[in-house]
Amino acid sequence: MRVLVTGGAGFIGSNFVRCTLATRPDTEVTVLDALTYAGSRANLAEVADRVRFVEGDVADASVVAPLVAGSDLVVHFAAESHNDNSLEDPSPFVRTNLVGTFTLLEAARRHDVRYHHVSTDEVYGDLELDDPTRFTEATPYAPSSPYSASKAGSDHLVRAWVRSFGLRATISNCSNSYGPRQHVEKFIPRQITNVIDGLRPKLYGDGLNVRDWIHVDDHNDAVWTIVERGRVGETYLVGADGEVNNRDVVRMVLELMGRDPDDYDRVTDRAGHDRRYAIEAGKLRSELGWRPRYETFRDGLAATIEWYRENEAWWRPVKEATEARYARSQQVLS
Ligand code: NAD
Ligand code: DAU
Repeated sequence: MRVLVTGGAGFIGSNFVRCTLATRPDTEVTVLDALTYAGSRANLAEVADRVRFVEGDVADASVVAPLVAGSDLVVHFAAESHNDNSLEDPSPFVRTNLVGTFTLLEAARRHDVRYHHVSTDEVYGDLELDDPTRFTEATPYAPSSPYSASKAGSDHLVRAWVRSFGLRATISNCSNSYGPRQHVEKFIPRQITNVIDGLRPKLYGDGLNVRDWIHVDDHNDAVWTIVERGRVGETYLVGADGEVNNRDVVRMVLELMGRDPDDYDRVTDRAGHDRRYAIEAGKLRSELGWRPRYETFRDGLAATIEWYRENEAWWRPVKEATEARYARSQQVLS
């Protein structure tokens, strides 16, 4: 099996590559990655001799077409992935997430290659805190940010290519993932590395926004489950019943790191900040028999804290610039 992994130098994509080579050692892996600020070849260091690495843009058809033609499967992770960045400058989100997906779809249909699209629960917008329902595959699309709108648009392209051209594709819409090698711009790594640096964690707004956390290993295990056993043309929601509000996450990080759980700052809220995400993953569980391996968020978080403590050389070079950028737009409220 020859697999083309786009975005394989990023957080989830590089985990997917490592997990693939560990569990399916006969797989031939090619990574296509533009090495933006979010990607690094260091993320693939452990498996460098077993991966063919191509530096290039998913929106460039001349790079994409031959790579897709030489693959049995494309797993598309490459994206601009951070909501705050999409509020500052949406343009790379439109190019990479929409034009990039279009470019891959065209190559996959021309060469009749199986395609898996990695997407997000954010395409469904948000839920109220007291809403008893959760997102399902039938929830209408209602994205809020330029990032989530670009991902929603990319999902619609995939669905159209399935229906109009018979493309052999599946889609996964997963909730917030956490674990080793996530960029320090994101919520959990930002707070862990702040605490290591003696800075106070930064909580947006009232801190009551809820995210549905899943460990990155479980996310990718679900992706492989869908690729191998999912029905072509179908969408599967991926989640691990990990709803926690942001304030409780920050308090847990502080407590696990031996600090006072109230030692955090509230800062300027994110514009258009989605209130709550919650996934009902019943289709994936009952149809494909999938189960997450991380039983509690707390255990996964403790292991993640350990990883950031032991791998300072990985995040240190970008920490100061990331905080400086945030400081330009975020004021401490209390
Ligand atoms: P990331 O930002 O850590 O990594 C993105 C990778 O894509 C980087 O290696 C980057 O260099 C590469 N890339 C960006 N633009 C590119 C381009 N034009 N051409 C080629 N490569 C390019 O992102 P992540 O958190 O690992 O997310 C991966 C995928 O999973 C995305 O599609 C995202 O929407 C989706 N997703 C993420 C989460 C989450 O919680 N992080 C949850 C659900 C779905
Ligand atoms: O739901 C899946 C999505 O999860 C993915 O599609 C995105 O790629 C991924 O970035 C993530 O999006 P979020 O916007 O939910 O993640 P982020 O880590 O940016 O923020 C998580 C929550 O924490 C959110 O409610 C905003 C809040 N937050 C974030 C930061 C960076 C803070 O309170 N303080 C912070 O410093």
